Amino acid sequence: MKRGKRIAILTGGGDCPGLNAVIRAVTKKAIYESHLEVMGFRDGYEGIVKNRYRKLEYNDVSGILALGGTILGTSNTANPYRYVVKKGTTFEAKDLSPIALRNLKRLGVACLVCIGGDGTLAIAHRLFKDGIPIIGIPKTIDNDLRGTDITFGFDSAVCIATQGIDRIHTTAQSHHRVMIVEVMGRRAGWIGLHSGVAGGGDIILIPEIPYDMNIIAEKVKERNKKGKKFSIIIIAEGAKPKGGDIVIQRIVKDSSDPVRLGGIGFVLGEEIEKRTGLETRTVVMGHLQRGGSPTPFDRILATKLGSRAVDMIEENEFGFMVGVRGAGLVNVPLDSVAKGPKLVPPNDPLIKSARSLGTCFGD
Ligand code: F6P
Repeated sequence: MKRGKRIAILTGGGDCPGLNAVIRAVTKKAIYESHLEVMGFRDGYEGIVKNRYRKLEYNDVSGILALGGTILGTSNTANPYRYVVKKGTTFEAKDLSPIALRNLKRLGVACLVCIGGDGTLAIAHRLFKDGIPIIGIPKTIDNDLRGTDITFGFDSAVCIATQGIDRIHTTAQSHHRVMIVEVMGRRAGWIGLHSGVAGGGDIILIPEIPYDMNIIAEKVKERNKKGKKFSIIIIAEGAKPKGGDIVIQRIVKDSSDPVRLGGIGFVLGEEIEKRTGLETRTVVMGHLQRGGSPTPFDRILATKLGSRAVDMIEENEFGFMVGVRGAGLVNVPLDSVAKGPKLVPPNDPLIKSARSLGTCFGD
């Protein structure tokens, strides 16, 4: 891409630690090395439809590496192809993509860098098919995106969840209780598995391995008999019993994935108390996992992804997401990203290691 051209960045979907680190990396390198002009759309695709943006200068992104959230704002409902507008007392979804495309063209955007998860990148792919040069950068605390070994935000979420489990350990011990920690992750168990192992959970329940209540109750009772008067259970929000169903907390109608999970920890807690007679409490880690400063790992990953995105801009390699494969970065076609979540394989080596130490997965 020629010097002096204008690129734009947006952050879409749920926020996560590391978004600002990517915005910083893309902006700094685009200005410093590639001599490009950088604009930032506000609130994800909302900004493109409403033509709300700001220019990003080198100094605007100084000092944001360690900052949580996103300085551009985000939206997990705005979609130019299905934009929800109020009509009287009702709401109607309209295709406002012609407005979005016109706004991008008028602004002279030579490449749009979309930082987001599956929903954001699916829209990015449609914009690409409609003629906009796009580069995607994968983000989500859930680590459930296809085409990349890891997403930034995941390590930070695992770190926060693990700190939570560590704290739960001491109070569980003092009160001889069963403590359940519910973590996020949507339909994938990456956060549950990793924080569960890192926090030394006795039982780890993830969506990929439906659990059996009898086995869980037995494990808790057996620990008790052996003198371990407390048990720590990590449960992913998308976990479910064998033959049972997930627990839905709410439906966010206009979201690309409208189902919001949450509450399975309380269901499990009641059942454990009933079956074991042991006092049980549930803690939901919730949005704490998405807030605050990214870990050094996520800062480094975000910096690498942002830097690589600018290399791709220089080489006019559009229609791809930057993916992590092994120790390297690869170009992943955008159309292969939104093909369902990347789940934890049942034979994941970490599951095997945990099982070999006696950790129960409820099966
Ligand atoms: O995808 C990230 C995530 O935090 C999931 O783990 C969780 O299920 C969901 O977003 C929560 O969404 P919201 O912020 O809309 O409640």
